[in-house]
Amino acid sequence: MPGRFPAAWLDELYARADIVQIVSAYVPLKKNGSRYWGLCPFHHEKTPSFSVNAEQNLYYCFGCKAGGNVVQFVQEMERLTYPEAVEYLARQMHIPVPALQEDPDYERRRTQRERLLAANRAAAKWYHAQLWLPENQRLLDYLHGRGLDDGTIRKFGLGAAPDSWDALTTELENQGYTQEELRLAGLTVVKPESRFDMFRNRAIFPIIDAQGQVLGFGGRAMGDAQPKYLNTSDTPVFNKRKGVYAANLLKKQRNLKRIILVEGYMDVVALIQHGVNGVVATLGTALTNEQARLLKRYAPEIWVSYDGDSAGQHAIVRALEIFEQEDIRARVLFFPDNLDPDEFIRQRGLDAFQQLRPLRAAEYLLQRAKEDLDLSDDEGRMEYARRSAQILRKVKEPIELDHYLKNLTVDTGISREILVQQMGITMPEPAQQRPSLRPVRRNQAENAHSMEEKTLISILASGLAPENAIRAEDFDTPLIRQLAEKLLGGISPAAILSQCENDQDRQEISDLFALDIQINAENAASMAEQCLNTVRVHRLQKQIDEMSANLNNLDAENKKEELQQLMALTTELNRIKRLVH
Ligand code: UTP
Ligand code: MN
Repeated sequence: MPGRFPAAWLDELYARADIVQIVSAYVPLKKNGSRYWGLCPFHHEKTPSFSVNAEQNLYYCFGCKAGGNVVQFVQEMERLTYPEAVEYLARQMHIPVPALQEDPDYERRRTQRERLLAANRAAAKWYHAQLWLPENQRLLDYLHGRGLDDGTIRKFGLGAAPDSWDALTTELENQGYTQEELRLAGLTVVKPESRFDMFRNRAIFPIIDAQGQVLGFGGRAMGDAQPKYLNTSDTPVFNKRKGVYAANLLKKQRNLKRIILVEGYMDVVALIQHGVNGVVATLGTALTNEQARLLKRYAPEIWVSYDGDSAGQHAIVRALEIFEQEDIRARVLFFPDNLDPDEFIRQRGLDAFQQLRPLRAAEYLLQRAKEDLDLSDDEGRMEYARRSAQILRKVKEPIELDHYLKNLTVDTGISREILVQQMGITMPEPAQQRPSLRPVRRNQAENAHSMEEKTLISILASGLAPENAIRAEDFDTPLIRQLAEKLLGGISPAAILSQCENDQDRQEISDLFALDIQINAENAASMAEQCLNTVRVHRLQKQIDEMSANLNNLDAENKKEELQQLMALTTELNRIKRLVH
């Protein structure tokens, strides 16, 4: 990506793009202190936590932690790729876009992507048209038999893959797509001796993203053929861990209060046909953090509605963990009598659906926590209390917490004070409740950086650090150390962010740059010195502790030497400590 535009031209673009003005076109901003503030366009909120730092050309939301530079803002808002966003900005500012730098590989990838998307679109059209042909009547009958009407079939662009080895492949070859393109798009299986359609004799569910691009397909087998659903495997344009089914409809439904996350294509289609909006499904895999973040843009709350079997229950717990990591409010919606959402809505209708009450995340987890316990037994009640304390630590709202505590005192016979005390205790977490996959929460990762490191990096980012005062070695955390190296190498914060392709790192780095410290030419030097002294104190203290702990392992000779060194270090420590007040 970077490298496509000449660096000097990009610098000029960044310098001239006024982030405040550009963001203002989407979000009304008000100045307060050194920043501008507004309601975050990336998550639902009532009070502003979205900020723009005009000097550094960066935006950052203290609520959802979205952050980046001016180009990335445009990318997110307009859903553009990086080069598209750069060109979009340049056009807005009437800066002529230079002729493309030689980057045949970029051009090749771009054209390939476009070709594959076009092939997918052509395939979707063709599948859809097939549905109405007499020879494919069975497939249309199948969809009708599952309760879908023609309006719904059109809305989702459902289709029919005929019972033929290569009808689609032949058609698309005639349209000019190469066998290699069709193979890459996952439409055709190519073997040394033959090639054939990936989807045969299946009802087709095109997977369409928010921009209306057809990324891939799910195909439902007729009868008992296996697998029941065949999905496009990952291709250069499709990653099933990043998208959701029916994302295209989400974008059209503004101001959703909640999204319902179900397991199956059919569940999405049936619920929407019956008038439930904001329904999506993952694409035959478990929910990922990326999907959660995608959903967060469209609604403040997500209802997880998976099967009630044990695999489903496990998936619910996992999904709730992901939503918690991403700071998304979640509930769990169960359909009674082991019906899946599709069966429920068909049998009982919209009214019955609207009567269903989703459980709050903690409510669901508490229910589950006692399922295998005998509450008539002391041990059972104690274990329930322990598990509950763990669950309640995550509940943020005092009223909700109070409600659970009340019930728990009754269920466990343990007083509220003790339960609250237990909540403050970190216990080794039972393995079956917490998969070890659990990544560190971003907020916790930030807390791991010391305030000194954060302040020092802010001073570097401000460009006000006295020359040679701060060195990369002064940072202990690898990410911050790398950042320091870049800043010291003269790369601006906005440029660093533009080189950062990993969303998670980008959020973390934006977060660091957004630290609210008033740095100015007068205080920068003394602030840096204070922080550096504190960092040195910590390091010395750690070194002294380690050496002291190791003293008894040494023989007399070495011990004497070590003790002398310890004395010297302690003297140095005390000297610096006096400098830090
Ligand atoms: P289910 O097996 O729960 O089926 O698959 P369903 O959605 O109720 O399907 P119908 O009603 O019998 O048609 C749920 C989802 O799991 C994925 C698909 O995404 C499906 O929608 N799946 C299932 C597969 O990817 N492959 C399979 O073989 C089965
Ligand atoms: Mn079903």
